[in-house]
Amino acid sequence: MTNLAATGPNADQIQYWNDVAGPKWVALEERLEAQIGGLGRRALERAGLGPGDRVLDVGCGCGAFTCEIARRVGPGGTVLGVDVSSVMLRRARQRASDGSGLPFNRSAPSAPVPGIRAAPPASGARS
Ligand SMILES: C[S@@+](CC[C@H](N)C(=O)[O-])C[C@H]1O[C@@H](n2cnc3c(N)ncnc32)[C@H](O)[C@@H]1O
Repeated sequence: MTNLAATGPNADQIQYWNDVAGPKWVALEERLEAQIGGLGRRALERAGLGPGDRVLDVGCGCGAFTCEIARRVGPGGTVLGVDVSSVMLRRARQRASDGSGLPFNRSAPSAPVPGIRAAPPASGARS
């Protein structure tokens, strides 16, 4: 997977999460998830996700919460993880290769997100 071109108004973040923070995050993944996992789980509780919901996880990183969201929305729901960092998406795809088949896409905020752009406004969609 090639990196997103670091251009436009988000160029600094694209470069930072691909070349600096992304590789570090992947290397320290377990420790970071132990540190921030509680906050993420709390946010998921507050979101009140349930079976059948359709979720766009923007900034999904290594996909830990994307996989957790998939468990919560169940087989009747959908979740798509998007991120600007190729190295983190690679890890997310690895994590989803356990058979969950979760989709993870590289995206810039202004780029169309496959499967989302064409979807009608969804009352149950949360990010
Ligand atoms: C602090 S990490 C959190 C990752 C994940 N949500 C988690 O809780 O483990 C922030 C993530 O947001 C991504 N990110 C930053 N700016 C973004 C943007 N404009 N669009 C999509 N992802 C972005 C980074 O690449 C990084 O993976």
